[in-house]
Amino acid sequence: MIGEKTMSENVSGDPQIQTQAEKKKVMLSGIQPSGDLHLGNYLGAIINWGARSDEFDCFYFMADLHTITVRQEPAKLRQRTLEQLALYIACGLDPEKNTLFIQSQVPAHAQLGWVLECYTQFGELSRMTQFKDKSEKHKDNINAGLFAYPSLMAADILLYRPDYVPVGEDQKQHVELTRNVAERFNSIYGDVFKIPEPYIAKTGARIYGLTTPDSKMSKSIPEGCVFLMDDPDTIARKFKRAVTDSDTERCVRFDRENKPGVSNLMNIYSTVTGKSFEEIEKEFEGKGYGVFKPAVGECVIDTLRPIREEASRIIKDKAYLESVYKNGAERASRVADRTLAKVYKKVGFVSLK
Ligand code: TRP
Repeated sequence: MIGEKTMSENVSGDPQIQTQAEKKKVMLSGIQPSGDLHLGNYLGAIINWGARSDEFDCFYFMADLHTITVRQEPAKLRQRTLEQLALYIACGLDPEKNTLFIQSQVPAHAQLGWVLECYTQFGELSRMTQFKDKSEKHKDNINAGLFAYPSLMAADILLYRPDYVPVGEDQKQHVELTRNVAERFNSIYGDVFKIPEPYIAKTGARIYGLTTPDSKMSKSIPEGCVFLMDDPDTIARKFKRAVTDSDTERCVRFDRENKPGVSNLMNIYSTVTGKSFEEIEKEFEGKGYGVFKPAVGECVIDTLRPIREEASRIIKDKAYLESVYKNGAERASRVADRTLAKVYKKVGFVSLK
């Protein structure tokens, strides 16, 4: 029987970076193009990505294969995938320095996904909380893909031999399963897969919904969610309608527990401007929420304006966008195909070459 190792968690802002000009450490993450990107995605994650590209060899992909585990409108999925790619570039991810690609354009994902399904146990998949949640939500479509999704995610990861996999808290269980499947495979066939670590960055703000400051900003509550492609008027309106707290003091003070609405706005303001909570409290001393809320809106509008404009420009430049994803798919395939060939050989498939 194969022992299930527990994951040695790597909760850190900065993993140790080797000083020698040796091979860079590899980082990989996938993002589902299932909804429009919003301020929570940006301030919580994407904002940090550009800075990493000098230290790490980074792979970021649009996980479109994963997206169809829930029914999608084809034209929308296509548009969102391209828009997301354009937004990443507009947010500062340089496609020369990072490998940006679309998952379905690198066939090795689906190919290794199948192999790994045969090394993942029914019981393991049944314990995944995301599967339980999603099958609860989509009772009319509990398909095999939804169930086997973590095996595909394991393939996404293991193909690139990453050192770190930056994910949100909700995906930790899937990275742990990836490690278990990789160790199981290695224990049968030798040292095929590198065992990855999840990378849960401490940095990156956790942004809550403007109308529901108790839960994460989410596309499912659009009136409290600022989308990166929203125009300035829409953003201003959403901030004006942001929920503040009904406490009697009505002042701008950080208190996550008793003043979740104001604290969330302060967090947004602080992340965008770099000001500390104390500085913000001082700045708005004696001024009411009626001054504070539009001020937060303004700074978000100023931050998102160049991103939106650049993304709109890139989306229209079809030839450029195509060159980015073609190049990305080629670069990704070169790495992924090598791992896949090794796996195919190990399990006993007859090679064409
Ligand atoms: N499952 C992830 C999510 O739903 C997306 C994803 C797919 C992913 N493959 C991945 C994340 C590989 C990291 C690594 O958010």
